[in-house]
Amino acid sequence: MKNLKKIIALVMALCMLLCFAGCGAEDTTSESKPTTTEKATLTTVKEGKLIMATNAYFQPYEYYDGDKIVGIDAEIAAAIAEKLGLELVIEDMAFDSIITAVTEGKVDLGLAGMTITEERLKSVNFSISYAKGVQSIIVKEGSPITSVDDLYADGAAYKVGTQLGTTGYIYATDDFGEGLVTPYTTGNEAVAALIGGDVDCVIIDNEPAKSFVANNTGLKILETSYADEDYAACIAKNNEALLEAIDTAITELTADGTIQAIVDKYIK
Ligand code: ARG
Repeated sequence: MKNLKKIIALVMALCMLLCFAGCGAEDTTSESKPTTTEKATLTTVKEGKLIMATNAYFQPYEYYDGDKIVGIDAEIAAAIAEKLGLELVIEDMAFDSIITAVTEGKVDLGLAGMTITEERLKSVNFSISYAKGVQSIIVKEGSPITSVDDLYADGAAYKVGTQLGTTGYIYATDDFGEGLVTPYTTGNEAVAALIGGDVDCVIIDNEPAKSFVANNTGLKILETSYADEDYAACIAKNNEALLEAIDTAITELTADGTIQAIVDKYIK
């Protein structure tokens, strides 16, 4: 009888010990689990939402499919939002309003095939880059402009169409002077001006350039490119936590092949 009591006490003690060990083990796993984001410390403009500003006339990065904005940036943003446990909201606006929307705290990030530049870094932070960009030159078939060098030739004075506020516009005005460079609100309008004979060429990012050429007859892209650049998300300088969370998300989405799969879906 005495022995039985001893055995019961021993079994009970063992159970308690196991239970504590179990609880302890559970605690450590949840602590060491790699949490993508510290949701608690992450503040966004509207709780539970990730508001992205873009300019949706920039196929294949962002464009309308019916009334829905789709494209590489839209899908990358959706994947980032999912990792952060937030609902993605996309706001379409003029490209040159995106940085202001970010700095004024109206949106959480700008994702718009946006190039990292020193000038922009003065007002916003940029995430790590998720894609390479190239500024290309579109001309009409049979144009006297056959390479980028022709634009710089003595007495060239070609009229250049660009999209307002883009690096294409910034570089072209630096190189050829404001008098020769016309900014249009969208790339579509710049291409329409080329077709209509108002400008001699359009300087714009290479992937949108390809879709403009595919959708219009009599246009081509010059083989020599105008500039090479890196695309990234821009985020307000005072939201370091969001910058870190987005960087972590992009790193993970790059490592597991998600970003490449999205790019491959849109760029064949
Ligand atoms: N890469 C260029 C820039 O950052 C053009 C981007 C235009 N993007 C757009 N969604 N319209 O200035």
